[in-house]
Amino acid sequence: MHFGFFDDKHREYVITTPRTPLPWINYLGSESFFMLCSNTAGGYCFYRDARLRRLTRYRYNNSPLDQEGFHFYIKEGNTVWNPGWQPVQTELDSYCCRHGLGYTVIEGRKDGVRALQEMFVPVKDDCLLVRLTISNETGRETRVSVFPYIEFCLWDAVDDSSNFQRNWSTGEVEVKGSAIYHKTEYRERRNHYAVFWSSKEPDGFDTSRDAFIGVYGSPARPEAVFGGGCTGSMAHGWQPVAAQQFDLDIAAGKSASILFGLGYIENPQDKKWESPGIIDKSRAEAMIARYADDAAFDSALAALKADWAQLLSVFSISSGNEKLDRMVNIWNQYQCMVTFNMSRSASYFESGMGRGMGFRDSCQDLLGFVHMIPERARERILDIAATQFPDGSAYHQYQPLTKKGNLAVGSGFNDDPLWLIAGTDAYLRETGDFSILDEQVPFDNDETLSRPLSEHLRRSFRFTADHLGPHGLPLIGRADWNDCLNLNCFSEQPGESFQTTGPNEGPVAESVFIGGMFVKYGKAWAEICRRLGLSDEAAEAEKAVAAVEAAVLDAGWDGKWFRRAYDAFGNVVGGSECQEGKIFIEPQGMCVMAGIGKAGGQAEAALESVKALLDTKYGIVLQQPAYTRYRLELGEISSYPPGYKENAGIFCHNNPWIVCAEAELGHGDRAFEVYARTAPAFIEDISEIHRTEPYVYSQMIAGKDAATFGEAKNSWLTGTAAWTFLSISQAILGIKPALDGLLIDPCIPADMKGFTAVRRFRGATYRISVENPNGVQKGVKELLVNGIPVEGCLIPPADPGCIVKVVAVMG
Ligand code: BGC
Ligand code: NOJ
Repeated sequence: MHFGFFDDKHREYVITTPRTPLPWINYLGSESFFMLCSNTAGGYCFYRDARLRRLTRYRYNNSPLDQEGFHFYIKEGNTVWNPGWQPVQTELDSYCCRHGLGYTVIEGRKDGVRALQEMFVPVKDDCLLVRLTISNETGRETRVSVFPYIEFCLWDAVDDSSNFQRNWSTGEVEVKGSAIYHKTEYRERRNHYAVFWSSKEPDGFDTSRDAFIGVYGSPARPEAVFGGGCTGSMAHGWQPVAAQQFDLDIAAGKSASILFGLGYIENPQDKKWESPGIIDKSRAEAMIARYADDAAFDSALAALKADWAQLLSVFSISSGNEKLDRMVNIWNQYQCMVTFNMSRSASYFESGMGRGMGFRDSCQDLLGFVHMIPERARERILDIAATQFPDGSAYHQYQPLTKKGNLAVGSGFNDDPLWLIAGTDAYLRETGDFSILDEQVPFDNDETLSRPLSEHLRRSFRFTADHLGPHGLPLIGRADWNDCLNLNCFSEQPGESFQTTGPNEGPVAESVFIGGMFVKYGKAWAEICRRLGLSDEAAEAEKAVAAVEAAVLDAGWDGKWFRRAYDAFGNVVGGSECQEGKIFIEPQGMCVMAGIGKAGGQAEAALESVKALLDTKYGIVLQQPAYTRYRLELGEISSYPPGYKENAGIFCHNNPWIVCAEAELGHGDRAFEVYARTAPAFIEDISEIHRTEPYVYSQMIAGKDAATFGEAKNSWLTGTAAWTFLSISQAILGIKPALDGLLIDPCIPADMKGFTAVRRFRGATYRISVENPNGVQKGVKELLVNGIPVEGCLIPPADPGCIVKVVAVMG
């Protein structure tokens, strides 16, 4: 069942009912000011950090759901409604929400009155812009009262939702003209405030929630709207809000529009005050002036659209398959930008209060983002590396605002260090910019411990090489990629962290998965050493890699697939001798991607086992059989009911590893089949089962052991975005940035006749045409670059500005 449709021309998903299976959201903003915006205008705003600089409130586990946002109440006669149906839920005569790239437009109609709500965050500015246009289609003149409403958050979202004894006394606002200033804590240590404004002088306002909503009211029934209008209240403590009232008399056939904004302003310490107790508003007023009229609003929106068109022009394809094209050209790349920005911090499943930026997460996000804005990727790599510990291990998470490691979670996730090599390697391939390796980067954010980035990578590599267990496989620590495989933590008390309770480094528990990673990214490190002229170090690294590769093929091999791990007692995890959890997806994907067992047939066998034992109609499950009871020695993985999350859910993140692995072996049909099974546009038809947004990936789809098989959760913020983009663009379509140029090496379904692609790479534009006249799955038999045949699949980088015509004939 569909709840909307893709409008590829406008790069939008158009939602045609407000009653989507769950709120379907969009992200407005892509650098510092953000709004999560649902299809009914629910959501919240923050500046840079959803925990530390939350601008508006949101209640995640509310019932009814999704009541807070940027809402307009429209009142005509006795009828009150919202353009997006929520929160009043008055039945609309028509409804439509267009989620576009960085903007959302919601339109509702009721009794001949049409309300159009356009929302976006302008490029490089710290505000949300909103325009409301009311059109009178009743055929008579009518009075429409309009009430915008937001509820402020007192900045620190954790404190805001817990420290009521203090917070209910701190709230402060100012009102000047048509602007409402939220200045809680500005009197003391903050030098930032929020400003809500409108382009028209309102007929009334409220800044106290009790006055506007009512102590016992709700966003679905604000007392001011249903009663006699706004009261002019000033918030003193309690809940500061911004609400206004506009009484519009609109002639038949006419429209009226008002512009609104919500801005974040920082003042220099010595320019905080205009006069004692009165905040300096000059920056806010300048911001308001920037967007004073429709022309300014329209041109800022046009600039945003142009920005996205430019970003997406770096990589686009035309394959004849509209679902594939819309995933590759629009939505997958859009999600890569969002995951790059948010890491795993703020979505409708991530509260913005729990997790900041993940070390491994952000490193992986780079893989799908680096081609879009390499400069931002560069900065990110340096930020991440600065949180690394001197011994090469890493803080598992850090806060985006402070860029400091998160002490509560600490370190000890032994895959983390290697992801830094993965992310940096992707950057080097994309840009050829080896100067990044010379950048001085602190360890543990301590400037006195600064060393070149290359030294950080070296310590990442060495950390793994020097922490091997009894079988010669890498020690797992608190967990590896699978955060829930907690082989050294034995948590028996409810509420304890599965990951951080107990020692972070057992002397015995080992990970075959990290073994695969070490082979894959250890080879990348060795190659980097070679480019740096460190040939002895390169050879030594290769020796260490070969030893781990041998261990993977020995203690890590089960006969038909790669084992998952050895636990703290030396028992096999993910082997045929296990009753449950016999086979896991992660080592099959990672080891084959690393090329392990390619020559000896183990790679083929492992992928056949995946197909035979882990495939389902909705994707490949993480492991089988699911754990049916809690196992102290395995940890959180067995805490989930069978079929959910890491306990045999379909983890979308490692499905593309299988895609890449299949492509590594030349299996184009199977690679594409696995790709399409979880790709959102390909499963739009089952939106009522899938439930999350049909335009982006979710982290997890309930597996076959679950009662709700096929139901997705944790949409948007998942490494799936980057890895699926890598799997489709590099493994299947075969357009791979390499240190020495651009590789063209597709692995496609036999019945795919070919495709064309445009790829900007190191400043040159490649117009690529892949032809598959003989219906093969892999192999380029002829490569023409500007009409000249080239040996092999590699195109050396062209001069910036050049247009390069590439024809690759498979066969
Ligand atoms: C989830 C994992 C996640 C971890 C983060 C677990 O509860 O299942 O997917 O990585 O929390 O701490
Ligand atoms: C989600 C986490 O963000 C990611 O870091 C982890 O690898 C997966 N869950 C699997 O546990």
